[in-house]
Amino acid sequence: MSTIILDKMKTIKTLNNITESGLNVFNNDTYTIDNDTENPDAIVVRSFNMHTIEFGNNLKAIARAGAGVNNIPVDKCTEQGIVVFNTPGANANAVKEMVLTTLMASSRNLFAGVAWTKTLEGEGEKIPKLVEAGKKQFVGKEIKGKTLGVIGLGAIGALVANDALDLDMDVIGFDPFISVDTAWNLSRNVQRAMTIEQLFANSDYITVHVPLTDDTAGMFNEEIFSIMKPGVHILNFSRGELVNETDMEAALESGKVGRYITDFPNENVLKMKNTIPIPHLGASTQESEENCAIMAARQVKEFLETGNIKNS
Ligand code: MLT
Repeated sequence: MSTIILDKMKTIKTLNNITESGLNVFNNDTYTIDNDTENPDAIVVRSFNMHTIEFGNNLKAIARAGAGVNNIPVDKCTEQGIVVFNTPGANANAVKEMVLTTLMASSRNLFAGVAWTKTLEGEGEKIPKLVEAGKKQFVGKEIKGKTLGVIGLGAIGALVANDALDLDMDVIGFDPFISVDTAWNLSRNVQRAMTIEQLFANSDYITVHVPLTDDTAGMFNEEIFSIMKPGVHILNFSRGELVNETDMEAALESGKVGRYITDFPNENVLKMKNTIPIPHLGASTQESEENCAIMAARQVKEFLETGNIKNS
């Protein structure tokens, strides 16, 4: 009987229905992947770092309940004939909502405004007057009529681009790999940049939705910042390593970048001025976690039972 390990996904009850027939299903509360005694046929993970794991000789598939696969040693898996799945599109709506929420909140200085207002605790009756005096420092900008650059027009990027149009933004998209507008139902009103430089030069806000690869690592660097409009807001819900942090710090310091909204805080990011650090919440909704876990479990079950590889 095939065995699947579900890493920390036990709260999703429907998974048992999907996986139970003819399969042993363990979750990582009773089983530790890094102390592999069960020698599973497949493992479904979210954030667990699979680079440090010695694979058992039964392992045939690893599924990532999410879009990025950088916590999985894909090359090693390929060498050993282990199939790697991810769950494209399953968390796209969650990430899109987070991008648009933070884009608007950043533009209206909401995060700083809320933090400042909390500091008024203890001022008692003076609070309304202090609010009226202090609010001038948080005057924001509307996003209507501004240009959003969307790098990567896959499932997430296309949703962001389409919905930004509904918010009356102008949208420029760039994706070297997608040539057909309908691939992800991308609106014809999204202008397509011929080069990434064209997108950088014309955007007031830039959001990035590409995987971390050797080609994309450090793609936000000094050279690229120099092309951008002064005061641009950059949103990164993809991976922290896309950004050269030394160059980002300098760009924030000089005001070239007005705001860096990132789902990947670390010690460097927390020290920089004008960052909005978010604790990797982009895909963290109940709906998205369930969608990803179910898609991953279905893929693995079908593969183990029939040999079909369906990455959707
Ligand atoms: C992803 O790669 O889709 C996200 O990082 C998922 C997550 O939050 O774990």
